[in-house]
Amino acid sequence: MKTIITYGTFDLFHIGHVRLLKRLSEMADKLVVGISSDEFNEIKGKSSFFSYKERAEIVASCKYVDEVFSEDNWEQKKDDILKYEASIFAIGDDWQGEFDYLNELCEVIYLERTKDISTTDIKKSLSKLNKDKLEEIESSMHEIINVVKSISPQ
Ligand code: CTP
Repeated sequence: MKTIITYGTFDLFHIGHVRLLKRLSEMADKLVVGISSDEFNEIKGKSSFFSYKERAEIVASCKYVDEVFSEDNWEQKKDDILKYEASIFAIGDDWQGEFDYLNELCEVIYLERTKDISTTDIKKSLSKLNKDKLEEIESSMHEIINVVKSISPQ
């Protein structure tokens, strides 16, 4: 029985997440996923749109995933690997080299990320949409004010 363990925040679940989990599930009999808790995200200086509970429910519902658990600190990975008897620790190559120290317990692999997508980019695009919309409303307001001024008696 080959178990792979992986970790992430998995906020605004997107195609990069799906492809990573799919590839890992194809390499293993069992895929377990540590999801960053809200408290751990705070430690990392991140804040997610969806709560831990929601993110964990979303990832657990993905057909490539067998089990999810919460990641609450940087130090727990060794215990998790032993607990789940994982033979491979895997993560995207944005973390290249960072987890080589886990090599003493299992194989450590870094997978190529899906190009041109990340939770950060999605958040940026959404906030830009809001900004554009606000600018549009502001400009309409100015037009209305000008029309009202032009027809009101001096
Ligand atoms: N991942 C990936 N391809 C992407 C985005 C993420 O393979 N385009 C992988 C990451 O390398 C990681 C896992 O998915 O192994 C969870 O990543 P996470 O940090 O939750 O997603 P990101 O989109 O990278 O989020 P952020 O922008 O907040 O860093």
